[in-house]
Amino acid sequence: MPTTPYQHLADAFGSAIVAVLGPDFAGSDPVIRVSTKPEFGDYQCNASMGLAKQTGRKPRELAAELIEVVDVADIAEQLEVAGPGFINITLKTSTIATALESMDTPALGVKPNEHPEIVVIDMCGVNVAKQMHVGHLRSTIIGDAFARILTRLGDDVHRENHLGDWGLPVALVLHLLRTRGVDLTTLTLGDLDAAYRDAQALAKADQKGLTAAISKQSGPHRIAELEDQNTGAADIRSEAGQTLVALQQGDEDLVRDWNSLISVTTDAMSEALNLLGVQMTKSNNRGESFYRDRLRGVLDWFESQGLCRKDDGAVVVDFDDRERPLLIQKSDGGFLYATTDLAAVRVRTEETGAGRCIYVVDSRQRDHFKDVFDAATLAGWCKNPSGKHVVLSHTGFGSVLGPDRRPLKTRSGENATLASLLKEAISRGRAEVHSRAEDPNAPTHGLSQVELDAIGQAVGIGAVKYADLANDLVRDYVFDLDRMVAFEGDTGPYLQYAHARIRSVVRRAESFNPDAAFLIEQPAERGLSLTMLRWNDVVHAAAESLEPHRIAAYLREVAEDFNGFYQTCPVLKAPTPELRESRLRLADLAGRVLEDGLGLLGIDAPACM
Ligand code: ARG
Repeated sequence: MPTTPYQHLADAFGSAIVAVLGPDFAGSDPVIRVSTKPEFGDYQCNASMGLAKQTGRKPRELAAELIEVVDVADIAEQLEVAGPGFINITLKTSTIATALESMDTPALGVKPNEHPEIVVIDMCGVNVAKQMHVGHLRSTIIGDAFARILTRLGDDVHRENHLGDWGLPVALVLHLLRTRGVDLTTLTLGDLDAAYRDAQALAKADQKGLTAAISKQSGPHRIAELEDQNTGAADIRSEAGQTLVALQQGDEDLVRDWNSLISVTTDAMSEALNLLGVQMTKSNNRGESFYRDRLRGVLDWFESQGLCRKDDGAVVVDFDDRERPLLIQKSDGGFLYATTDLAAVRVRTEETGAGRCIYVVDSRQRDHFKDVFDAATLAGWCKNPSGKHVVLSHTGFGSVLGPDRRPLKTRSGENATLASLLKEAISRGRAEVHSRAEDPNAPTHGLSQVELDAIGQAVGIGAVKYADLANDLVRDYVFDLDRMVAFEGDTGPYLQYAHARIRSVVRRAESFNPDAAFLIEQPAERGLSLTMLRWNDVVHAAAESLEPHRIAAYLREVAEDFNGFYQTCPVLKAPTPELRESRLRLADLAGRVLEDGLGLLGIDAPACM
């Protein structure tokens, strides 16, 4: 039994197409769409035009024949051919009421995936030997939204933080700090910052290896990596090399200092994670160092399978469709970022048993991931233990820009950390909430400072997350807090406010009947209902395409439909008690859809604003 009107229509029109055109047309898309205007009914079947073309028939005639045979009498009250051959479908009011009834459960009609799987989400990925930047914040916010959406559909999601915590750049920073006599147990971000800068300066001093990288058309990321690894003054480089060897051999002092170095970075990140309310702790860390003993195995496998070749002493993997090879071992024997990523794919598919791995890393690493995924496929690592093909995908995202439209810089110095950026957002959110609460008519009027602060925090963080998620992810966006925390416009607080407003209506009703009959009479009630009934489809579409902005856009529709409904259909002062109960139940359902949707974006929904 189909559970939503949409599915019912899709099934029925699918059968009708077969009945009219024959079994060859089984499985053809019935093209059921939500009508764009109320005068076109509730839904449309737009299949006739395409099918008519394929079969050499007249679309309007075909549409009429479909109407003859389609079995929707129990859910639709009117079907009519319109325009070039659309079929406008008007549902029975009782159908909408029944569908709302079955949606009104804790799951809100969202059905779990039929085949849930293990999904690894590679997110955050801060580096201990380089500065953290807002890209890492974006990766965390986006990755967390993916995790919430997929978990909602029943997948077993592993959030993994692929920390940059290994290799020569790390050894160099460690070496610089130690020679400087910095006490690593009390290391600050400021000390680290200074060490990074010096390491960078050293890297710039030496162009060796770069020429080779450039001539091989390596991407910017790989060139930067080689830059790092060909660090300056030969003696420091060799000392750092010795540090790395000692670290690899488990020298106790060094390992302790290395751990301190990691702690400084991860503590700073944890602070940001806490403010964001992202459920990631140290237990989610699976940094590059985790794979260090598996790098040799990667190389051995590629060699034994004849998948790589020597090139000037280095080892590279070639691809059929492009000139750019993938470097997996340098001529000095060192391994690379890509080698580690290959080892990680292998662990994720073969050991973790993932059916899907999603890498949330800024767009500049697109070529890197293309190469790694293709090389992993060549190696035969894109199968999990049950033999199922594993989907590896990279979700790139654009930059966060400052007011000058240049990439926003956060230095890891004391006063401009990632956390301080979030704190700034929180303080703007609080200012907004406190100033609104001064109005004696505001629902927040009279709340305690602590309560207002908590709401303000939700607003500030919600604003940042929404700005990250509400548009196509590859787009850059300007970090403009004034605009982001506004209660009007395309913002997170607008949706939070819409939700809180609904809550306040329900609160004011004092009595609430969760079993009230849904009486759908006015166009605005109908519109809001039909929008809400799409929630299941929206979540699934967002999960499949990994596009949280679909959820954001949908929530705006719910909020707008609710506003329309609230303007034209009095709720607390409804003409009859039955209608009052029905409208309250509808409002409550809309509030829950908003709360659920905001939750999937990682945004809190305060009950009062
Ligand atoms: N540490 C990397 C960077 O900041 C991001 C790590 C992304 N994940 C991965 N598996 N390579 O550029």
